[in-house]
Amino acid sequence: MTTEALTRIWPAAGLRVRAGDLELRWIDDTLLVELAELAGRGVHAESTMPFAFPWTRGSATQVAHRVLDYQWRNRSALGPDRLVLELGVLWNGRPVGIQGASGSDWSVLREVETGSWLGREFQGRGIGARMRAMILHLFFEGLDAENVTSAAYLDNPASNAVSRKTGYEQDGIVRVAREGQAAMQHRYRMTRERWAAVREANAALVGAPIEMSGVAPVAEHLRSDRA
Ligand SMILES: CC(C)(COP(=O)(O)OP(=O)(O)OC[C@H]1O[C@@H](n2cnc3c(N)ncnc32)[C@H](O)[C@@H]1OP(=O)(O)O)[C@@H](O)C(=O)NCCC(=O)NCCS
Repeated sequence: MTTEALTRIWPAAGLRVRAGDLELRWIDDTLLVELAELAGRGVHAESTMPFAFPWTRGSATQVAHRVLDYQWRNRSALGPDRLVLELGVLWNGRPVGIQGASGSDWSVLREVETGSWLGREFQGRGIGARMRAMILHLFFEGLDAENVTSAAYLDNPASNAVSRKTGYEQDGIVRVAREGQAAMQHRYRMTRERWAAVREANAALVGAPIEMSGVAPVAEHLRSDRA
C-alpha cells in the first residue's frame, strides 16, 4: 500500500508541515515503530512526570507498547466531533518526537489542546518551540482554529517556556491528580486574535518558511459527514 493510495481514502495520511530541517507528518507504522523505540529510550528524568497518564514509566518495551497503543487507538479519531491529530516530528529526517493536538466538538468549538514530547537526546535545542509554532500555524492558517490551548505542570519549566515563548496567554491554574498526588498546572490559551498578533514572531522563531501540504483535503474531511 502506498501513502498516495491511503491519502485518497484518509486525507490526514498526506499531511505535511515543513520548515527547513524540521517536518511534522502523519505517523505511518514505520515511523511509529521508530518513535516508540525513541520513547522507550527515555522522555524525561525518572524524578519528574510531565503527563497526566504516566505512560513513560516502566521498561523500554512497556513504554514503546504504550506509544503504539495510544497511536493505534486514536489514529482514526479525526472528525468533526472528536479531533485527535498526532504528527511525527522529524529533524534532518530523523524521528525526534511527536507533536499532537486534540479536542472535542471541533465543528462547534474549533478548539484543540496541544501536547508533545521529544526524545531526551533531542531536547533543549529549540526543536520544541519550533514544532509548537508549526502546529499553531497549521491550526490557525490551515484548519481555521479559533483557539489552541496548552497545559503544563508548574514543575515542567521547558513546557511552560515553550507556551510563553510562542505567545500563549495565561489562562489560570488548575489542580489535578498526578500519580496519586495533587499537582498544579498552568493553563495557556492562544485565541485567533492573539495569533494574529504573534504570527510574525512565531515565523521568526521557526526560522525558515513554513510549507504545508495536504491540508485542504483534511479541512474538507473535517467538514464532511463521512469523517
Ligand atoms: C517540553 C518539550 C517538548 C520542549 O521542547 P525542547 O526542545 O526541549 O524545548 P526548547 O529547546 O524549544 O526550549 C524552549 C524554551 O524552554 C527553555 N527550557 C528548555 N528546557 C528547560 C529547562 N529544563 N529549564 C528551564 N527552561 C528550559 C529554553 O531555554 C527555551 O526558552 P528560551 O529560548 O527562552 O531560553 C521537551 O522538553 C520534552 O519533550 N519534554 C518532556 C516531555 C514533556 O514535558 N512534554 C510536554 C508535556 S506538557
